[in-house]
Amino acid sequence: MAEKIKTVRGFRDLLGEEAKKYRFVVDTIRKILQRYNFEEIILPTVEYTKLFTRSIGEATDIVEKEMFTFTDKGGRDVALRPEGTAGVVRAYIENKLYSDGIYKKLYYEGSMFRHERPQKGRYREFHQIGAEILGTTNPLADTEVIKISEEILKTLKIPARIEINSLGCKKCRPAYRKAVLEYLISHKGELCEDCQRRLERNPLRILDCKVEGCKLIASQAPKITDYLCDECKTHYGSVKKYLNALGVAYTENPRLVRGLDYYSKTVFECVSEELDKTVIAGGRYDYLVEELGGPPTPALGFAAGIERLALLVKELPKEKPLVLVIPFGGEKEKIHALRLAQTLRKNGIRVELSYREGKIRKQFEFANKIGAYFTVVVGENELKEGKYPLKNLLTREERKLTLDEIIETLRNL
Ligand code: HAM
Repeated sequence: MAEKIKTVRGFRDLLGEEAKKYRFVVDTIRKILQRYNFEEIILPTVEYTKLFTRSIGEATDIVEKEMFTFTDKGGRDVALRPEGTAGVVRAYIENKLYSDGIYKKLYYEGSMFRHERPQKGRYREFHQIGAEILGTTNPLADTEVIKISEEILKTLKIPARIEINSLGCKKCRPAYRKAVLEYLISHKGELCEDCQRRLERNPLRILDCKVEGCKLIASQAPKITDYLCDECKTHYGSVKKYLNALGVAYTENPRLVRGLDYYSKTVFECVSEELDKTVIAGGRYDYLVEELGGPPTPALGFAAGIERLALLVKELPKEKPLVLVIPFGGEKEKIHALRLAQTLRKNGIRVELSYREGKIRKQFEFANKIGAYFTVVVGENELKEGKYPLKNLLTREERKLTLDEIIETLRNL
């Protein structure tokens, strides 16, 4: 036998129920984003590597160890995108979306790639649906981005706590960073190996380390909220006031730092206890557009992990009941069944036309195997009479009906 080829580690097929849940999550979020008047942007999967090193940050885990990078046949250093924000900002600048002076609300969806250690809810290819608002400092926008995340969770019936924080701005963060660094240096010996390395390159990330010893040290570290400048304090205060006005439940986590370097002011994460993972996350990145060569443009957004949300979906919306149309006889009956199936589908009914040949008993077995609720047999007698037996496979009840009556019965289910 020929060698069987398997999926690459961290890459997966989504089949059956999993694919349905995935699609349910995407459709639900799309509908919500469209209600908030976000417009879709379809982005390339491959970008220049430097787009990510410059935006996400050289010293982040993503850039240091998780990117799928390669040199293309033209000698370009490119990467499979590890996230969507950098691409949106690149597109915003490249297409001069700022030229009309109006803020933009864009959403995207697709595969992201990170070379992480695979486990439940963590894959090397995963999917995000994310939204970005470019061109406003208004805390109403921060509030709505968090509100959308809450709405996604509520609509999908997924419990998760919403944690928020402010990371300050260029004015106030340096003093905070210095205070944290001094504190952490005094505890250097107690930090894990990774964090000892982070101390030099990215000390704030230590506050987010999952190792118990580091967690304990982080819990005593200085809090950013004690260092915020007046502008950041007012901004953060407004976000909280507006969230309260909308009745959004959140907890403040002064140690929430996020794993990407571009953030400023508001950051947030929605954490599922069941999965022990963040399912939706985002925040402001007021300097990123400028740092990538665009005009100074404050911006913010979020991304939802589709697989993680799909893992937590307990119940899918009911599907339309399936009807199996069974041709029984020769060519004439087949053609009639072919047409009848089309008419039912045109009326919004979910129909499988049986391609199986053979005895009627086998046809009913097939109907059960594919989960059909109803069968309609199209045989010689039916053609003559203009009536067809509509059988309910659950109740076993069978009625002879005209095509119009079948449509009437099935359409309202
Ligand atoms: P992130 O926190 O890196 O943020 O990713 C957002 C979400 O993507 C996570 O909360 C998680 O649900 C999902 N995710 C991340 N890595 C994996 C993985 N290996 N396997 C499965 N799911 C994963 C960002 O990507 C930012 N671009 C979010 C943002 C948009 N900030 C502002 N605008």
